[in-house]
Amino acid sequence: MDNNKEIVLSGIRSTGNLHLGNYFGALRNFVKMQDDYDCRFFIADLHALTTNPDPDELHANVKNIVTEYLAAGIDPEKATIFVQSDVPEISELYLLLNMHVGIGELMRTTSFKDKARKALGLKNDNTADEDDDKIEQQIIGADSNKRVNAGLLTYPTLMAVDILIQKAHKVPVGKDQEQHLELTRRFARRFNSFYHTDLFPEPTNYNFGAAAVKVPGLDGSGKMGKSEGNCLYLIDDEKVLRKKVMRAMTDEGPKEPNSPVSLPVQNLFTLMELTSKPEVVRNFKDAYANCSIRYGDLKKQLAEDILAITLPIRERILELRNDDAYIGRVLREGGERARYYAAQTLREAKEIMGIRKFY
Ligand code: TRP
Repeated sequence: MDNNKEIVLSGIRSTGNLHLGNYFGALRNFVKMQDDYDCRFFIADLHALTTNPDPDELHANVKNIVTEYLAAGIDPEKATIFVQSDVPEISELYLLLNMHVGIGELMRTTSFKDKARKALGLKNDNTADEDDDKIEQQIIGADSNKRVNAGLLTYPTLMAVDILIQKAHKVPVGKDQEQHLELTRRFARRFNSFYHTDLFPEPTNYNFGAAAVKVPGLDGSGKMGKSEGNCLYLIDDEKVLRKKVMRAMTDEGPKEPNSPVSLPVQNLFTLMELTSKPEVVRNFKDAYANCSIRYGDLKKQLAEDILAITLPIRERILELRNDDAYIGRVLREGGERARYYAAQTLREAKEIMGIRKFY
């Protein structure tokens, strides 16, 4: 890896398979970045533990995601691909950094409040501020079956360490992770100023600019997401994918020329803009404008154009899945490289904090 390149780091929790949202929102751009940056991509299996997954599934999912990264074009000759738990220095620095992190600032994090509500079985109407007190009381009073685990609270510390231990400059993440990145910058600044050091660079979000896209779901809702249950997966076979697209929500169709486009139909157009040729999109938009559109035809075309992208990836996934030796080699080598950098940063941090050997 070239030492003069800026360091880019991104992680993904090992839950489930990758979908078109991951592909167009992140993966496709990661592939383009490999040549220009010192890219380090990792699977956040420790973060996945915050929601207490089935132990038999945790690393099955790690394997899935690594396989899907590779199949989509992440090249281990160019980028470092590793598993978070293969770098124990992360866990050690996480303990150390927590000494400078406030419980209050963690409790005020939006993602924590959402997850705490879920763990306590509260409604997720994230509106009223006065209900912060109520959540806090419930967290403190919760019995052991409904506890909010401390790992959820310190999730942002762990994420900050992922980033800071690699001294990453750029972190390509979506909107939902911006607050975590803001905390990372705050923790870096705090550490640097407390110890009068410049150990940690302050990372910024890597903005894909025009390439940044929000991939909609097929159920008329906003975004494609694992928790929405509206995903088209890279691993979906032809039949499954066609079926999902054909079932996509639409509306009754335009009644008069140049009608406004409803959200579910706009979502289909947006997917089409990502996957189909411009003239194809234009034809269907014209057909919408003059009321001759047939949603069945649009969906058939959309399914074909999505499959043209996902099927070759699916084939590579199926091939790679059987090659444990290769995947093992990629992760061992990536892990070693990530550890080399992490160990160096940890050594510096300990020295700075006063954990110095006198014996
Ligand atoms: N929290 C991120 C997510 O849920 C995953 C993540 C963990 C991450 N550590 C990271 C992303 C470090 C970027 C950098 O999507």
